[in-house]
Amino acid sequence: MSTLQAVRGMHDILPEDMPYWARLEQTLRDLFDAYGYSEVRLPIVEKTELFLRSIGEVTDIVEKEMYSFDDRNGESLTLRPEGTAGSVRAGIEHGLVQPQQTHKWWYSGPMFRHERPQKGRYRQFHQVGIEVFGLEGPDIDVELILLTRRLWQMLGLSTVVQLEINTLGSPESRHTFRQLLVDYFSAHRDRLDEDSLRRLERNPLRILDSKNPDLKDLIEGAPRLHDSLDDESRAHFAQLQAMLAGAGVAFVVNPHLVRGLDYYNRTVFEWKTDRLGAQAAVAAGGRYDGLVAQLGGKSVPAIGCAFGMERVVALLQDLGVAPAVAQVDVYVVLAGDAAVRVGFQLTEAWRDAVPGLRMVVNCGGGSFKAQFRRADRSHARWAVILGEDEVQKQVITLKPLREQGEQRQVAWMMVGATLKSLCG
Ligand code: HAM
Repeated sequence: MSTLQAVRGMHDILPEDMPYWARLEQTLRDLFDAYGYSEVRLPIVEKTELFLRSIGEVTDIVEKEMYSFDDRNGESLTLRPEGTAGSVRAGIEHGLVQPQQTHKWWYSGPMFRHERPQKGRYRQFHQVGIEVFGLEGPDIDVELILLTRRLWQMLGLSTVVQLEINTLGSPESRHTFRQLLVDYFSAHRDRLDEDSLRRLERNPLRILDSKNPDLKDLIEGAPRLHDSLDDESRAHFAQLQAMLAGAGVAFVVNPHLVRGLDYYNRTVFEWKTDRLGAQAAVAAGGRYDGLVAQLGGKSVPAIGCAFGMERVVALLQDLGVAPAVAQVDVYVVLAGDAAVRVGFQLTEAWRDAVPGLRMVVNCGGGSFKAQFRRADRSHARWAVILGEDEVQKQVITLKPLREQGEQRQVAWMMVGATLKSLCG
């Protein structure tokens, strides 16, 4: 019989990887607490229409990457490809996203995109995202960037990530720019690849994002969005740059950074690395001042970004930024029937006596030797041995495995207090 395998592009995260994930998640949680962001948990499945209306119908995600299916009542649903659309939907639905009110949210969880899998690119991947509603000025843009910079510092990744920023201006200035781009690329139609030809009709800005090296020169010579910018966006972007410089943040202005989702305006940014091959962006985001109104809410400015968790974990692993090995305090060796019979009663009492005690009780029997081997593999600091002899004398033998000290016997009555002084 053939064995079953996970769906292509969808990965198991096994215990050996978990310390990296746990460290990253805990660091993010601490950061969000420190900056005053509240957690939200939103559904993994939303109505397909939500993504059509927010991400945009002429984007790679909507055109070819969504996991959509008909519910039993015929309604089209989609596994969320990202978290911004659902956040806006929830904010409107609960009446939370209102003019003159500020909300700072974060979320985490799996996202789904039917992309071609490769290192750093998966079909189920995990994001931690931030969304801020109600703030228009560039100060909040700076705060998101500073929070992210602090994350890299806390994780020891500052030297392998670079910040790129750009502005997309207002919808009107984008419209003017779009026409200039269509004119320019139409004049060079014969040099475009198939993907770009398709984009020319439907989403010409995305041609700027092309990874095809043959198009590099053509793209370099294309009209610049900055030349069509409206005055307010220009001022917003100038302020953003001045504030970043004032805060000592290093950045590069990349005029070709356009992002793959349609809802952005003004500030967009990506944190990139050259350590992960083609999958360069480890975190990315920007403003989406029009999206709340576009989805039926009031006009409320917003900005957010998301971290690609697999990619940050890959960087941690690549750099050998090893998290502490999970510690076990005590491994309990139970040898013989009598020991197994009293074992759980005793060990549960020790757990009561020493809250938080990390204790692995041997299950599945085995010789002394086999049990010690398991104790060693668990990285426990101490072994507690309970054999026939110990049961008879109502003692345990305490043996240091990674600590200094002599092996000794301790009366059952005193084990709780002893473990508390050693491990509590
Ligand atoms: P995004 O650029 O599509 O933006 O995704 C954010 C991050 O998720 C990327 O920079 C990357 O690290 C990670 N990511 C994306 N696709 C994959 C994949 N297939 N495999 C592994 N990692 C991936 C958004 O999703 C926006 N919602 C971000 C945002 C929040 N903008 C405003 N608020």
